[in-house]
Amino acid sequence: MSGTQTWEADRYAKNARFVADLGMPVVDLLAPRPGERILDLGCGDGALTAKLADMAGAVVGVDAGEDMIAAARKRGLDAHVMNGHELTFDAEFDAVFSNAALHWMLDPDAVIAGVRRALKPGGRFVGEFGGHGNVAAICVALNAALRQRGVDGVERLPWFFPTPDEYRAKLEAAGFTVRTADLIPRPTPLPTGISGWLETFGENFFRAAPEGEAEQVKLDAIELLRPCLCDQAGNWTADYVRLRFSAALET
Ligand code: BEZ
Repeated sequence: MSGTQTWEADRYAKNARFVADLGMPVVDLLAPRPGERILDLGCGDGALTAKLADMAGAVVGVDAGEDMIAAARKRGLDAHVMNGHELTFDAEFDAVFSNAALHWMLDPDAVIAGVRRALKPGGRFVGEFGGHGNVAAICVALNAALRQRGVDGVERLPWFFPTPDEYRAKLEAAGFTVRTADLIPRPTPLPTGISGWLETFGENFFRAAPEGEAEQVKLDAIELLRPCLCDQAGNWTADYVRLRFSAALET
């Protein structure tokens, strides 16, 4: 993961454990084989990396968050702090896997070029991240709360949420054959509510708030979101839309 967001492993585990829990379909799409060497790009605290390691020969995890990499290493994983835009690997992996991380990397062409370099001929690139329309209500509410204070939140959007056609074109331009690229709406229950989600992922917006107003921006956004994302029992559900894809290089 990257950007100006800070990643705290404990906060992430408390508010966002569901991210890895819901990632198994992507592991299934990758279908790791014994003996394969796999790179987990944006591995976070390594919850899914550990599952990959059980299935493949060797797995390396990389993430821009130091605290996340420390947590991944505590699991005994081979994990390294690395910016996803500047991957340093050369023709050494059978597959690159990524779950819920690529939307934080705002220069997707640089990321895809690094993935291509990292793969052996015939290598696969399989992943899932936020697609077009992902967390749209949350983005609008945060932007509205900032705009009331004269701040343009749109300029500060920290995420890349492309359509399948946009992402397919980028993969093909880099030499990949795209097998699948689909948008999957996935309303996602939030175990610690919208407040936990905003505290974990909304930092870029709050940092843009005028001095001393970050907390009120959050509270205003929550009240804007309540009618559409909170049910009568007080349960919050985020409007996630995933882009799940599978691509491969020529052998
Ligand atoms: C996502 O997994 O789609 C996501 C997570 C945090 C912020 C934005 C999107």
